[in-house]
Formats: sequence, C-alpha cells, structure tokens
Amino acid sequence: MKSNEIRQKYLDFFESKKHSIISSASIIPENDSTTLFTGSGMQPMVPYLLGEKHPLGTRVANSQKCFRTDDIKDIGDNRHTTFFEMLGNWSLGDYFKAEQIDWIFDFLIKELKFNPNKLYISVYRGNDNFNISKDSEAVELWQNKFKSVGVKAEAVDNAEINGMKNGRIFYYNEKENWWSRTGVPENMPNNELGGPDSEMFWDFGEHLGLHEKSEWKDKPCHPACDCGRFLEIGNNVFMQFIKTSNGFKELKNKNIDFGGGLERIVVAMTDNPDVFLCDLFTSARKEIERLSKTKYGQNENDTKSFRIIMDHIRAAVFLIGDGAHPSNKDQGYFTRRLIRRAVRSAYDLNINSNFTSDVAKIIIDEYSNHYSNLSDKEKVILDEMEKEESKFRKTLKEGLKQFKKRTDITGQEIFNLYQSYGFPIELSFEELDKEKIKYDKIKLKKEFEEYQKKHQELSRTASAGKFKGGLVDSEEKTTKLHTATHLLLAALREVLGDHVIQKGSNITAERLRFDFLHSEKMSSEEKSKVEDLVNEAINKNLEVLCEEMPLEEAKEKGAMGIFESKYGEKVNVYSIGPKDNKFSYEICRGPHVKNTSELGEFKIKKEQSSSSGVRRIKAILK
Ligand code: ALA
Repeated sequence: MKSNEIRQKYLDFFESKKHSIISSASIIPENDSTTLFTGSGMQPMVPYLLGEKHPLGTRVANSQKCFRTDDIKDIGDNRHTTFFEMLGNWSLGDYFKAEQIDWIFDFLIKELKFNPNKLYISVYRGNDNFNISKDSEAVELWQNKFKSVGVKAEAVDNAEINGMKNGRIFYYNEKENWWSRTGVPENMPNNELGGPDSEMFWDFGEHLGLHEKSEWKDKPCHPACDCGRFLEIGNNVFMQFIKTSNGFKELKNKNIDFGGGLERIVVAMTDNPDVFLCDLFTSARKEIERLSKTKYGQNENDTKSFRIIMDHIRAAVFLIGDGAHPSNKDQGYFTRRLIRRAVRSAYDLNINSNFTSDVAKIIIDEYSNHYSNLSDKEKVILDEMEKEESKFRKTLKEGLKQFKKRTDITGQEIFNLYQSYGFPIELSFEELDKEKIKYDKIKLKKEFEEYQKKHQELSRTASAGKFKGGLVDSEEKTTKLHTATHLLLAALREVLGDHVIQKGSNITAERLRFDFLHSEKMSSEEKSKVEDLVNEAINKNLEVLCEEMPLEEAKEKGAMGIFESKYGEKVNVYSIGPKDNKFSYEICRGPHVKNTSELGEFKIKKEQSSSSGVRRIKAILK
C-alpha cells in the first residue's frame, strides 16, 4: 500500500466514526505568536481543546503538515525527519479512552493488517507528586483488544532496568508517557494543557541486531529504547489536565489527541526500519542517485548525505509553500538553513551544480494531490530554491577552506562565515566538529549574536524559548486582536478599495500585524478614517457570529479569506454586524470574541511597506 492510500484510509476510517475531516493548517501558525512552526496536529486545536466550540462538532480528524526544529543537525539516522505528516484525530469532550483504543487498534490491525504480535504499547506509570495515578484503565482496554486477536498482553513495569520479561504493554514515567506542547509536567507553564498518553510501537525484530550496534548495547532493550528496533508509530494523548499554580486540574472537557506519523506507519507496514525508503521519497532518492552517481545505502556517510538532502529539500518545499521564504530571521532562517545544509551535503556527494529545484519539483509532484498549494506555488518554490542555492554555492568552496588548518575560532570569525560565506552558525559548528576543532558553543553563539546586533540584523534564530507562559490570558488578548484584525480588513477595503486583500497576519498578546495588498503609503487621513471605522464598529457592540458552510457557498456569498481547502469541505465563516448589513464577513478558523464591545479602543501604531505592493500595519487595542 502506498502512503497516499494509507493517508486516505485513515481519513476514511475516522470519517466512518463520525469525524469531520479538515484540511491541514499552515506550517506557519496563524494568529499564534507562541511558536514559529506547527509541530503537531493539536497545535491549531488548542482553543477547542480548552473548551471553545468547534464549528464542525466534537470529532475532527486530518493529516497535518508538521515541522520540528529540535534536531535539524541530527537528521541522518533512519527514522528522524524535520518535516512529517501527522495523522490526527480529536475528541473535543466527546469520546475518550475506550473508543480511541478500540478504533486505533482496529485501524492498524483490521484496516492496515498489522501483525499484532509486532505491536507494543506504553502507558503512564502515574506519579504521586502530581496526584495522577497509573493508567491501569488503558492497560485493561489494550489487553482486551489484544485478546480479541489471540495475543497475550502482559503489562510490565521497569523494563528499563529489568528488560521486557515477555511483556507487551509497558509502564513508563512522564518522560515517555506524558504529552504537552512543552514536554514533561515540570516544564509546563501554568494554564498549559497536557495529559498522560499511551504510545504504540512497531517491533522490527531482534534479528536485525540494531540494539547490539547501538550505544545502548549494555542496557536492556525495550519499546522506549532509542536503538531503533522499536519505532513509535502513534501516540494517544488523554488530554484532560490543565496546569495551575495549585497543581493539575481536570479540564472542563476530557479530550483525545491522537497523532501518528504517516511515514512511520508506512515503514512499519513494509517492516523496514528506514523511513527514507518510504515510497514518498523514492523518486527524489532516484534523482539524487542519478546526479551523484552513487547508490543509496552503500556506505554510512553517503547515506547520511542522502537523508539530509531528502529531508531538508522536502521540508523547505513545504515551508516556502506556506510562505517562509529563505531569509535571515524567523521561519525563513530555517528554510535558509535547510537549503544550505542540503547543498553542503550534496557537495559531499559530488553534486556540483544546482540541483535543489530538480528535487523540489519531484517532491511537489509527489505531494500535490493532497497539498494543492504546492502545485499552485510551484514557480515561487522552485525560484526561491534556485536563488538560495546559487547564492550559497558562490561562497561554499571558499567558506569550507576557512575551516581548514585552524586550531580555534572567534565569534567574529563565525559571524564573518555567515556574512561573507553564507554559513549559518549551526552549519559552522558542524564543520568545526568535522575538523575536530574544539570550541565553546555558548560563548561563540553569544559573540555571534552581539556582532549580528551590531549589524542591525538582530534576528530571532530559534523557536526554543519563545514559548511564553500564561497561555489562557494571552489567548484572550490574541483573540481580541484577532477580531480586531477582521474589522481592520473591512475598514481598509472601505477606505482604500476592494483591491485590498490579506497577505499575512501575525498576532501576539500585545499587538496585531497585518499585511495587505496596496501599493501606496497610506496618508494620515486614510489612517484615521480606518481607525474611526474600526472604533465605530467596536462602539456599536456588534455581534460576532460563526456559521458553517461549504467553501463554495462561502465564496459565493462573498466571504473574504485565503483558505486552503478541499472541494466540498465545510468552513467557518465569521460575520460581524447585523445580517443585512455586515461590517465584516470572513472565512476563518477562529477563535473570536462574541461581541465587539469586548475589544477596547483600536489604534494604528505603524504603517509601512512590507514587500513590493504589500503594506503592513501594526495596531493595538487600548
Ligand atoms: N500531540 C501528540 C503528539 O504530537 C499526539 O505526539
């Protein structure tokens, strides 16, 4: 079975269990300043998991584009990728553990015909410190399912120390079996949601000798061991707690948050542990083989280069597709790093002329059936790849020379390597490692940043640390600013004309930022007219209503909005103001306030150029 079929089977299966199938949200989160990328299917669902009503009901499923930045430099093993598709289903206060375990087991065993003898399960051991008990309920539910297919499923604790003891279900602590956006309970800010989880693993078998070859060879192997014998293929999160200053409280709703990596499910089905052998990569892999005159899988170093190229170009395609063009900051900086690192790896494979757009084209063709925005944006994606590669190739050879014959390096030199030779700092660190040159990463990073600041190129270079506490509060503020953004767009169209459409939006708890199509600087008169219109709408205490309808109907009725969607999909349309005289009418995922009276006073702080033909407004609510 091909990946495209498995994705479809999953969506069909959950549709048959009365789930609404929604399209993937953008990898660049909209209206969420807490993180740079969508790294899990649940991220766009947070408001609904917290209790906001989802217009499509209490059961939702999709395949979500995800990007995780944590391990860019570690890509190269057989199972990690920066970009992946997460198959997800959610219960928003509807079904819970029993149904989820029942369905996901049936999906794997009955629909995909997994051999149940190769499936292993982990569950939460519980922890008195958090007043959360061990999940024997999940254990019993799993045991019943295994029993129904004639497989014995003993539950075992402490496998990390004692080994597997013929168990099938394993208790672990919160490091393995707790999920929140910020990890273990200790790392969660107050008001963040999370819960115990139960993961599913595929066993590639002892016979491959993966454990003996790994750095864990002197310890017992078990499902959560990192040697690669067991691959996590899905995670059932029992999303039922919110952290407070007085410990964990039950959420109003008990939710299910399931996420399973599409490629991982595919490789489990083929029983080959190399994710890069998944059919989604086949054409790209062949093209790299052709260009490099090297066969994939022949030796370790080349294999690593292949994997970096496949992973990074695919991720860059999706990032550019969602608007993150290569740049010096924010999301674009990651796109830049990915492309440059892929080019660096291609150099090791003796691919010495531009090739990234070739591979990108292959990726676009592979995915555009399900992600039509890729074919829509094909030209931009290929152009950006080509430009970025050309830029880096010009200085790559010279840059690499700078790492030779040296015994140490300064922050200024690291900065220079980026400025003059195009080596992102992380890539420089890797080169230094290759040359076995010792350095103080933290010190160099600090110096690098000081130089960068001096050159007025201050950029936020990592998503780590961006996550701020106080989500519920800040969500309230961002929700208000989000509604204000709708009022702003309507007012801009009124004042400047109907050519004004949204080109981008980014909202923090402090301000909104809105990019729109318009070629001239706004006069101060135009700005105050826009402000007045928005404030009038606020003072009229207009009701904000959400209606669900098919996308086609929404478009017909004149709703604004850039929206990626499959034909026939239902969308939410938010209207502000009376039915026969709407002030604003937009397709949007929400959330929004109920009434404009909640907003306060609207004020434009800045109006400037964003890019050619696009203006940017920053505004606040007082
Ligand atoms: N949100 C869960 C995860 O990302 C399903 O693993």
